[in-house]
Amino acid sequence: MLTKDSAFEINPSQNSSIDKVDFDNIAFGQVFSDHLFVMDYVDGEWKRGCIEPFGPLSLSPSTMALHYGQAVFEGMKAYRQPDGSVSMFRPGANIARFNQSAKRICMPEVPEDIFMQALVELISLDEAWVPYNSQSSLYIRPVLFATDSHVGVRPSFSYKFIIFTCPVGQYYSKDVRVKVETHFTRAAKGGTGAAKAAGNYAAALLPTKLAMNEGYDQLLWTDAESHKYIEECGTMNAAFVIDGKMLVPSTSETVLSGITRDSAITLAKDLGIDIESRMISVAELEEAAQKGLLQEAFGLGTAATVSVICTIGFASGDYDLPDISTWSIAPQIQSALDSVRLGTGEDKHGWNIPV
Ligand code: COI
Repeated sequence: MLTKDSAFEINPSQNSSIDKVDFDNIAFGQVFSDHLFVMDYVDGEWKRGCIEPFGPLSLSPSTMALHYGQAVFEGMKAYRQPDGSVSMFRPGANIARFNQSAKRICMPEVPEDIFMQALVELISLDEAWVPYNSQSSLYIRPVLFATDSHVGVRPSFSYKFIIFTCPVGQYYSKDVRVKVETHFTRAAKGGTGAAKAAGNYAAALLPTKLAMNEGYDQLLWTDAESHKYIEECGTMNAAFVIDGKMLVPSTSETVLSGITRDSAITLAKDLGIDIESRMISVAELEEAAQKGLLQEAFGLGTAATVSVICTIGFASGDYDLPDISTWSIAPQIQSALDSVRLGTGEDKHGWNIPV
């Protein structure tokens, strides 16, 4: 096992591509910073990590993750601060969730101190890639996947842990139209819905594509048993404002426990917003919509930040949310989150970790 003081092997990139990047127009997830962190788990232990130029990995066609989906990931962000320094937002929470996800699908945990050290060293090396534009940030993608070259279903013995980063702008470039999904299922009790497992995202592709064919952008998943209760959007958690009260569907073993969701709930309480996290039925949402009491709907996620939901597709028809100019709660949450992450306001919960 490596200790806290271990240095990684550093193999710096000789060809930075940063000059080719238009930081004022960054498409989400398409531009990658110069370096990649790589660390292998072999023979029951983590080997020394390495920071190397970002580029293709060489893998056997029989790499188990490709066949059996033993892979988990995280999404986190670093932000440029007013003094030009860089801070990560709540990385400890992402590391903890990453390791919970790993445990759920039989993978070794990454020691928290090594994970944090890898983040700090990688982001420091690629510090120039952290955007200065307040609408943008550096997205950080840690991934852990099974690397045994083997055909047959069992947990792998070897794993690769990688972290790469990318400067990003908005995940959703426009307001989001969501469809309440009552046929397909994202996660069932006893399944992997609370883990950030790669397979959860694969399972959502076809239902999402079908909804896109109907003119929606994303699904609002419901529980697998009854399809009566709202869960999450898959790419983000969901929140609603009904008659002045902010309502957030509770997390469970079928819902990802979002860090942005948690931050939004904490900040809403700080702001004195009337908020409740509980089970929310589709019927309650639909009735509120019909009575004109459904005032705001928004997604909460690391990639999505606070994303405006403009339309909800119910079985009975589409409900268009009131014009954003009438919204009060989502803008307050967005601005409170921004002021912490961008370092322009007080970080009273100690969420920003300097790089
Ligand atoms: C994130 O919010 O970081 C995610 O991983 C969601 C994904 C749809 C980009």
